[in-house]
Amino acid sequence: MIGIERLTKTYGHGAGTTVVLDGLDFTVGTGEIFAVVGPSGAGKTTLAQCVNLLERPTSGSVTVNGVNLSRLTERQLRVARRRIGTIFQSDGLYSRRTAAQNVALPLEYLGVTAAESRNRVAELLDRVGLSSRASFYPHQLSGGQRQRVGIARALALRPSVLLSDEATSGLDPDSTASIVELLKELRDDLDLSILFITHEMDTVLQVADSVARLERGRIVESGRIVDLLRDPHSVLGRSLRPRRDAEAAPAGTERWFVGYTHSAVPADWLIRLAADLDSPIHLLGASIETVSGETVGHATLAVPALEPGRIEAAARALGLDARRLPAPAGSAPALAAAALERVA
Ligand SMILES: Nc1ncnc2c1ncn2[C@@H]1O[C@H](COP(=O)(O)OP(=O)(O)OP(=O)(O)O)[C@@H](O)[C@H]1O
Ligand SMILES: [Mg+2]
Repeated sequence: MIGIERLTKTYGHGAGTTVVLDGLDFTVGTGEIFAVVGPSGAGKTTLAQCVNLLERPTSGSVTVNGVNLSRLTERQLRVARRRIGTIFQSDGLYSRRTAAQNVALPLEYLGVTAAESRNRVAELLDRVGLSSRASFYPHQLSGGQRQRVGIARALALRPSVLLSDEATSGLDPDSTASIVELLKELRDDLDLSILFITHEMDTVLQVADSVARLERGRIVESGRIVDLLRDPHSVLGRSLRPRRDAEAAPAGTERWFVGYTHSAVPADWLIRLAADLDSPIHLLGASIETVSGETVGHATLAVPALEPGRIEAAARALGLDARRLPAPAGSAPALAAAALERVA
């Protein structure tokens, strides 16, 4: 488990002080993958460095498995850091060492015997699916394979916490998906707490249980992915939804956006909604998927103009949040509205 309390990090002194992390609070449970997203310069890497204590927090505390790292001496810290594995964006492998020799590095530092190290390295490379590449040098491996070597190395000392700073950024979608699957398997098999830093929302949706958005050193929104996706007011939820253009609405209809707000939305909600409203409904676009074992979804509909409030109420009864979308600029209704505004 990782516990972050009122974590603040500043650089510089006096008038030149920069506050990079400003009173962060969150926990990453055992067996949880917690994503941190945010724009460049938001403080994500600084946060990762404070968690593995490569940077000392200015104030606040970082607790890993009940041990407050901020209170440890340098010597105690070196021991505590073994329980924290880190995977970097640029894989950080030594180019003159083979995959196996890279994975063996942390074991060498610890003075593990050669025979023990050989066994452990073989086990780790097998774990990440690279047994057949043990004697390859980094330049003979693909980007995804190099990240796997990095993951095997991060696991060498049996950490309970894994930090991943943009580990999948720059990989193609297939390699990203396979790294994500590997991390989820490791989380389940080894009960790891994983802090997953990324700027790719698609990846967050694939990998994380929870997410926090960092902006200028502060968490502006956070929560379980499923809850955020179901919250019609959540900005983070909106940015996690896959973005696709819906079809244009037929003449004489209005466009509506409908989102699942809880788990009990019936699969035949579209037919039921049409029956409740006694009106045809056109489906212009939709995405329904399972996230962390729970169904989430949204759709864009075209519905003939009805009494205000009826669609919202009928949707609500089915577990859906419905809101009318403005007519697209340049469409007949938008031009008519603009003409009316000019007259007024
Ligand atoms: N050693 C340092 N001294 C002064 N300022 C620093 C130092 N390290 C980081 N910063 C500042 O902290 C801010 C956050 O940097 P950080 O690397 O944590 O951002 P990030 O969210 O990881 O960005 P990116 O997405 O580009 O990787 C930046 O404005 C940076 O200039
Ligand atoms: Mg960074």
